[in-house]
Amino acid sequence: MRKILVIHGPNLNLLGKREPHIYGSVTLEEINKSLRKRARAKKCKLTIVQSNHEGEICDLIGKGKDKFDALLINPAAYTHTSVAIRDAIAGSGMPAVEVHLSNIYSREKFRHKSLISPVAKGSIFGFGPHSYLLGLEALLDLLDAK
Ligand code: DQA
Repeated sequence: MRKILVIHGPNLNLLGKREPHIYGSVTLEEINKSLRKRARAKKCKLTIVQSNHEGEICDLIGKGKDKFDALLINPAAYTHTSVAIRDAIAGSGMPAVEVHLSNIYSREKFRHKSLISPVAKGSIFGFGPHSYLLGLEALLDLLDAK
C-alpha cells in the first residue's frame, strides 16, 4: 500500500477561525477527514501532522524518507522563508506536492515567492480545501506512473 506523509505548516491548526475571508470556514480536522476518505478510496495510507515549528517539519521530512513514498505539504508561511524545509525536501528524495488554500500570487508581494516550488514535483494553490484533494490525486498519479 502506498504511504503518504501529509504536513500542515504553521497556523493551519487555526483554520476555520483564522482570517476566514481568506482561508474560509473549513477546519483542519474537516480537511483531514476528507483527505482520509479519499485515501481510503484510493487504497493509500496517510500520516497527517501539523506543526508550527520549522525544525520539527525538517525532522519529519528527514525521518520520513525511508517510511513514505511521497510528501503532500502546505508549508504555510515557511513557503516564503524556509531554505531549511526546501533542503529537507530536496534531500529526502521523496516526490513532493506543495499545496496552498489561497492563491499566493494574488496576495501580498512577499507571498509571490515560494522557496518550495523548485523542489516540488508541482504546486496547487487557490482552490481552498480542495487544493489538498487535488494534491493527493496528483501525487497518486505520479506514484502510479513510476
Ligand atoms: C498558505 C499561504 C501562505 O502564504 C500563508 O502564510 C499560510 C497559508 C495557504 O494555504 O494559502 O499560512 O499556505
